[in-house]
Amino acid sequence: MAKIIVRNLTKRYGDAVALDNISLEIGSGEFLVLLGPSGCGKTTLLRCLAGLETPDTGQIFLGEKKVFDGESKINIAPGKREVGMVFQSYALWPHLTVRDNLKFGLDVLNIPIKKANARLDKVLSDVGLSKFADRYPSELSGGQQQRVALARLLATEPNIFLMDEPLSNLDARLRMDMRVELKRFQAETNATTVYVTHDQTEAMTMSTQVVVMNNGKIEQVSAPQDLYRYPETTFVADFVGMPRINLIKLKEDSSNGTRYGNGEVSIDLGWSPGIREIVIGARPEDLILSQGDEAMGEEYEITAVMPNGPETFVQLARGNTAVLARADNDTKFKTSDIVHVGYNPKSINIYDTQTNSLVPYRGPK
Ligand SMILES: Nc1ncnc2c1ncn2[C@@H]1O[C@H](COP(=O)(O)OP(=O)(O)OP(=O)(O)O)[C@@H](O)[C@H]1O
Ligand SMILES: [Mg+2]
Repeated sequence: MAKIIVRNLTKRYGDAVALDNISLEIGSGEFLVLLGPSGCGKTTLLRCLAGLETPDTGQIFLGEKKVFDGESKINIAPGKREVGMVFQSYALWPHLTVRDNLKFGLDVLNIPIKKANARLDKVLSDVGLSKFADRYPSELSGGQQQRVALARLLATEPNIFLMDEPLSNLDARLRMDMRVELKRFQAETNATTVYVTHDQTEAMTMSTQVVVMNNGKIEQVSAPQDLYRYPETTFVADFVGMPRINLIKLKEDSSNGTRYGNGEVSIDLGWSPGIREIVIGARPEDLILSQGDEAMGEEYEITAVMPNGPETFVQLARGNTAVLARADNDTKFKTSDIVHVGYNPKSINIYDTQTNSLVPYRGPK
């Protein structure tokens, strides 16, 4: 199977730098998700891999093959890169039926007719479109058309899948089903996959590795669990996680260096990061709410209670410092209640305000 290596890739559009010296190694069989805000360069990177966009500098290897080199002017044509692509806009041939749209891709590959037909039946059934094989694209819904585009990719059985938000036109339930289907398919074929999405759940559930991009640069490359638990920068901390992480800027408050505050809230970290100014990153589940005699931490006022299925999110304020906490779905807390808020020192992250990067935990185990 194929691995992908990207070295010092830069792509400019006029003065704008869409990719800024990107280097990345993607292992064979990896399911890598590109995540990041709109305009950060995800589609550009995918199009460069596919050969649809010519980078200004850098190198790209797909498998053993060097497909792009800015210096020696190597630039292999898209059709010769042996990659399968599905993009945000899925161009289907309007004058061909679903089956013929799929067949078109296989004809190009010179696959014998009997084998091709068996494969088409299988992928059509995989994407739930067996009944629609003889329809034309204009007779299908947006979501169905998207599934045809996906089936067309799957049918060619490429070594490398490049997918740009392939599920964005599907409704929530179908999206779930297709995620499972895609993940199964990828595991079966072990095709190296680069997958672009805005959808964090999709990124977290499908990937083996996530790359977070920002402004044409890579912010972090991590397994999904680590990305959530140890965001390396405040940007990643803020971007990853729904609802958002609580980021609070604090100054050293006491001489022993474990207590930090902002004049409204004061938090004992339980260890000393040795920096005057920090930002703490506390996920809603890292806040511990309590009332009554055993209560721990400072008092906050509840400003909103938001039930969300299995959990309830509680918005709290102390002065101008607002935070969001997660409580059980049967919580008794109500708006205007006063509750004590504790911060779990072992699960919150500390960032240096000078560098915006994570200060590794050095407190008690
Ligand atoms: N053909 C082009 N001409 C000029 N600028 C472009 C072109 N294509 C992309 N850009 C710019 O390059 C930057 C990266 O765009 P890209 O499409 O890669 O973003 P993206 O991360 O895929 O965003 P989205 O999540 O909105 O799809 C953007 O600032 C965009 O405006
Ligand atoms: Mg895009």
